[in-house]
Amino acid sequence: MKRYLVLNGPNLNLLGKREPGVYGMKTLTELERELLHFGGESGIEVVCFQSNHEGDLIDAIHESEDQYEGIVLNPGAFTHYSYAIRDAVAGVSVPVMEVHISNVYAREEFRHHSVIAPAAAGQIAGVGFYGYKLALMALMNQKGGNEHA
Ligand code: DQA
Repeated sequence: MKRYLVLNGPNLNLLGKREPGVYGMKTLTELERELLHFGGESGIEVVCFQSNHEGDLIDAIHESEDQYEGIVLNPGAFTHYSYAIRDAVAGVSVPVMEVHISNVYAREEFRHHSVIAPAAAGQIAGVGFYGYKLALMALMNQKGGNEHA
């Protein structure tokens, strides 16, 4: 069975409590449960991991090599300045789909730029939790499962 990793970065453990007007009322546990269910329906295995620490996210990306067909990554605020995460994404052959729950382009100026996006296979923003499912669908749809820019 094909395996996909869903990686959530800093502050996403606060979903449901954190700025509910921006990120909604559902918790990270609910998101992960929905994604595991979606995986079951889609005939794939979904593994979820969240960390507030840059190095842990980098380690998870490195360790994904030969383990996963793709990664769904919401890097949180690291999106906007972590060259280290960008280099990790560029350094593995596993395709990475960048996801943002909110429409980062309709928010503060500093959120308009992603340093991760040039190394990612694609980006989905502004459709809430549904973006994670869309990202999994996009990764499942990739021929061979390991084509990325
Ligand atoms: C986010 C957007 C980022 O700008 C922010 O720092 C987050 C969440 C999103 O999912 O919309 O932590 O990645």
